[in-house]
Amino acid sequence: MYDSANPYLTGNYAPWREEGDAFDLEIEGELPRELNGALYRIGPNPHFKPLGRYHWFDGDGMVHAFILRDGRAAYRNRYVRTDGLKAEMNQGRALFGGLLEQPREMTPELPPFKNAANTNIIGYANRLLALFEAASPHELKPDTLETVGLFNFGGKVTGPVTAHPKFDPVTGDLLFFGYQPFPPYVTWYRATRDGKLIESRPIDTGLPVMMHDFIATDNYAIFFVCPSVFHLENAPAGKPIFVWEPQHGTRIGVMNRKTGDVKWFQDEAFFVFHFLNAYEENGSLVVDGCRMESLDMSGNSFGGKPAMPWRWNLKLSDGTMRQRQVDDVPAEFPRFDERIAGLKHRYGYFAGGDVVSPEHETSFKALLKRDYQTDKLEVHELGKKFAPGEPVFVPRSAKSSEDDGWVLAVWYDEERNRSEMVVLDAQNFAGAPVARIKLQHRVPWGFHGNWVPA
Ligand SMILES: [Fe+2]
Repeated sequence: MYDSANPYLTGNYAPWREEGDAFDLEIEGELPRELNGALYRIGPNPHFKPLGRYHWFDGDGMVHAFILRDGRAAYRNRYVRTDGLKAEMNQGRALFGGLLEQPREMTPELPPFKNAANTNIIGYANRLLALFEAASPHELKPDTLETVGLFNFGGKVTGPVTAHPKFDPVTGDLLFFGYQPFPPYVTWYRATRDGKLIESRPIDTGLPVMMHDFIATDNYAIFFVCPSVFHLENAPAGKPIFVWEPQHGTRIGVMNRKTGDVKWFQDEAFFVFHFLNAYEENGSLVVDGCRMESLDMSGNSFGGKPAMPWRWNLKLSDGTMRQRQVDDVPAEFPRFDERIAGLKHRYGYFAGGDVVSPEHETSFKALLKRDYQTDKLEVHELGKKFAPGEPVFVPRSAKSSEDDGWVLAVWYDEERNRSEMVVLDAQNFAGAPVARIKLQHRVPWGFHGNWVPA
């Protein structure tokens, strides 16, 4: 749209800037009446022609809500009205650079960088929070998607908040961290289900790195320190602020949630954007996630090699670790039945299959379902010209067993240049979709989303 040489501004990465509401959407199949709530999705969607080099991570967050009730579906999409975007809207043009280059107008009225509010969206404490790992969450109204403002846990968390917090399935506590380019680099937090901060603890990881995700069990919080290292001094020279430095290797810190003690495991360098889950078994921690051999944050690709599913076994008694690639089918955006977070899971759902092209390594052909007990991999392809985003699992009921429910994902139909929200029966994963909810326009490739029951 703006720059045909930048893959993050072309095809279904290009922004869709129209905000609106649509009611009684066309549905192919039958939408289960148990699906009563909203699937919120969020992704980058630059409102103005970007200044300098644009990276996928830079775009203004736009929320897409699929509201399901009584077998019918509605849709609403809105930009998150961040201070940065509001300033740009007032001027009618971009004012901020992104993480590849930071040309911007140095005026005291502007924040030092834009909180793009584009990475994840969760329901928490009767609020909707749009998350961006470099800054505070934004609170939105769940029904209108109107931006309320920054959410900082009653003033207790003013630093960055990860876009991948976890819910403790027993207490409902929100477990999260923030990372920053200066010591202690990482801070661990825990807040109650109604929004009160109850724990805050610095963790000195020894290296200022990009840390996108973490994983937790009942007793431990696990942090992968992968060597995508902060170099803020590069920004004025127009160089990337994250540099891959494999000489540091990757270190895994396992924090005892009761004592705060951290045990470290050291390995060769690799990178993980996302974890599926972790659990404790026979004195070890089992961690499932998606591993990349390296990370290139300097341009239009993450390095050309897609993420693969890996499993780590961290033996707490002697500090040794084992790891293995689970299979050789690319897989990202791992999700599971989050009611068993921190407990042994059997199933994982991913977006995956062969990547469409090296420049489009984050657009996938299929949804995948992995059975970690039998090693069976099921593949759902909607058609040659269809590509899915992250799958979100919704249980059939509070009491249904793991995998008894639906997998919701937004798919892009390249031929019609439109998107649809597709409901799969998780237990008939490769079979025909239960329902396909059709939009009259496309939803650009985004990052994450969550189901919030009515
Ligand atoms: Fe993410």
